Amino acid sequence: MTQAHYETQGDVAVITMDNPPVNGLGHGLRKGIVEGLRRALADDSVKAIVLTGKGKAFSGGADIREFNTPAMSAQPGLNTVFEMIENSTKPVVAAIHSVAMGGGLELALGCHFRVCAPGAQIALPEVKLGLLPGGGGTQRLPRVLPFELALNMVVQGFAVPSDKLKDYKIFDAFIEGDLMAGAVDFARKVVAEKRGLPLVRNLKVDYPDAEGYLAVARAAVKAASPRLPAPLNCLEAVAASTELPFDQGLKREWQLFIELMESPESRALRHIFFGERAAAKIPDVPADTPTREIRSAAVIGAGTMGGGIAMNFANAGIPVTVLEMKQEALDKGIGIIRKNYENSAKRGRIKPEDVEKRMGLITPTLSYDDIGNADIVVEAVFEDMAVKETVFRKLDEVMKQGAILASNTSTLDVDQIAALTKRPQDVIGTHFFSPANVMRLLEIVRGAKTGKDVLATTMKLAGKIRKLGVVAGVCDGFIGNRMINQYSRQAGYMIEEGATPQQVDRAIEKWGFAMGPFRMGDLAGNDVGWYIRKRHYAEHPDAKFPRFADKICELGRFGQKTGAGYYKYEAGKRDAIPDPLVEEMLVRHRAELGITPRKLSDDEIVHRLLFALVNEGAQILEEGIALRASDIDMIYLTGYGFPMHRGGPMLYADMYGLYNVVNRIEDFAARAAKTPNGDADCWKPAPLLLQLAAEGKPFNA
Ligand code: NAI
Repeated sequence: MTQAHYETQGDVAVITMDNPPVNGLGHGLRKGIVEGLRRALADDSVKAIVLTGKGKAFSGGADIREFNTPAMSAQPGLNTVFEMIENSTKPVVAAIHSVAMGGGLELALGCHFRVCAPGAQIALPEVKLGLLPGGGGTQRLPRVLPFELALNMVVQGFAVPSDKLKDYKIFDAFIEGDLMAGAVDFARKVVAEKRGLPLVRNLKVDYPDAEGYLAVARAAVKAASPRLPAPLNCLEAVAASTELPFDQGLKREWQLFIELMESPESRALRHIFFGERAAAKIPDVPADTPTREIRSAAVIGAGTMGGGIAMNFANAGIPVTVLEMKQEALDKGIGIIRKNYENSAKRGRIKPEDVEKRMGLITPTLSYDDIGNADIVVEAVFEDMAVKETVFRKLDEVMKQGAILASNTSTLDVDQIAALTKRPQDVIGTHFFSPANVMRLLEIVRGAKTGKDVLATTMKLAGKIRKLGVVAGVCDGFIGNRMINQYSRQAGYMIEEGATPQQVDRAIEKWGFAMGPFRMGDLAGNDVGWYIRKRHYAEHPDAKFPRFADKICELGRFGQKTGAGYYKYEAGKRDAIPDPLVEEMLVRHRAELGITPRKLSDDEIVHRLLFALVNEGAQILEEGIALRASDIDMIYLTGYGFPMHRGGPMLYADMYGLYNVVNRIEDFAARAAKTPNGDADCWKPAPLLLQLAAEGKPFNA
């Protein structure tokens, strides 16, 4: 089936792009456009050609489904279309509505004329995928818009409403009412008036002092995106439009495009783009699985997490009742929510009137009588099975039939929680990340008996409250925390072996993490991990653990909240100050273990941390706890401060080469075997990792 329809309206040929959802310029569509143009050019009765898009876009640009496939570079390319238009003896008019982005906008810019319906969104967003517009956009846009605007659009990728571009050359006419009729009339007028066949390539970039502006812009772009090459390459490509003749500018654009296409950063950003979309797909829960209506919610516990979770519902316009045990805790929790909203209003993130509007959606209560009618209840009480048991038995009693019973537990067994109720099919884990009103990740834990409709509803709800929902199976720590546990252990071992907390933090932060493990522990509260570790010690009495973390906690050094942890903190400040006392404690601790301290390189620090994640990630993948490697990456990127430009631990391992990862892991194991208190067992390569490495395959195929 052709993806571009051809018809004639008298002496005007109309080519209509039809490749839902956004007329992505895939191979089929490009072929269809070329065929349409050939037909129109060969037909003597046709005097002009209109190119338009069916449905909800003129064109959204490249067909993302073709990314990384041979179809992406298959001929005809956009360049073929441009050449045909440039050689055409008949005017080609782009009739734009709704969306003209990326390749779609580049296509329009290659036409002789552009007419536009009101309210179209215009953008070259390629930078967001770590790329630049490689179809002439960086050379043509500055010829039809003010230079600075064009540059910023390319470098930042933002969309501009067409109505704001009325004063510039980009559009030849704005058409109110029927766009097609208007475009056909416009085409006829162009023919009647013998207006010629203008091409954007022949226009001059009108910006006399480009050099001065570009120098400032270069410095600003470097400062704003030190780790991503795309914004700077975008800038250089647009700069070429002022410095080089058009055709040479195109060549420069292509060179800069290829550099980006091959960059690990672009690979990471494209991986994220696809990974976020893939996360929504659950093989045995098809997209048309019926879902339950969520019109109201309840949250049990108004502590650190409960308050943030309640805010998510209120922000999405869903009324939520918050239940606590004692009035004091309730008042405190609600007070914090109010303060958060007031701060957001002060910072201009929400409108002042939204504070009361959102608070109005939150109802505090001490009584279970007030929550029975909620469509979903999220439990966020202490991380203690006995407390969870009381709560879930009560929920089973009071919640209406069909309500979803969710737990925010970060480590406990969701199946065990489900078994406390007579409706395990309605029970699911919704693991939010702190601060719950800010962090984008929602790890959705699917119990053995969780209903498919409950899972589908919760995934849909994640989108509604603007989270990225990623499915995890039941195990201790699910995906994210189970992996972070191995990462933290390595951090602990490395300070035992000779590194300082600040050296470990600095190395991984330099690599790109938002925060190293020790600063993170101090921020989150070292007592949280201590509590979990004590359970692990009881459950696995023979397992080896680095024990320095316990010594820190035994002194009450829980982190920022107590003024000291691995670092010390001045009252009211968050700056982590290295503490000589911790270093003295470490010296004593190493001596007790019989360890002769050695110097660890930043490379060892970074790769022990990363490959601890990767090895556990491989195990999780093999056990089916994660559905796909990219889900693990999305969890780390949206919940754990993993640097975006690295694309997640599993993608990093793929780029490093799994064969090389295995070799590094074996080296780490050999060293651990020789280190007192070292644990070579934790470096046993996961079978899946070994298998893929042997086959020369990546995690993310
Ligand atoms: P928290 O201690 O700040 O808050 C718990 C709240 O629950 C307290 O206000 C307490 O009064 C209330 N509560 C306790 N028992 C109750 C009961 N029977 N009925 C009603 N309210 C009750 O704890 P936090 O940090 O908010 O953690 C809550 C849950 O979220 C835990 O399961 C935890 O593992 C999980 N979680 C915590 C994260 C964090 O970073 N703090 C991150 C992700 C999950």
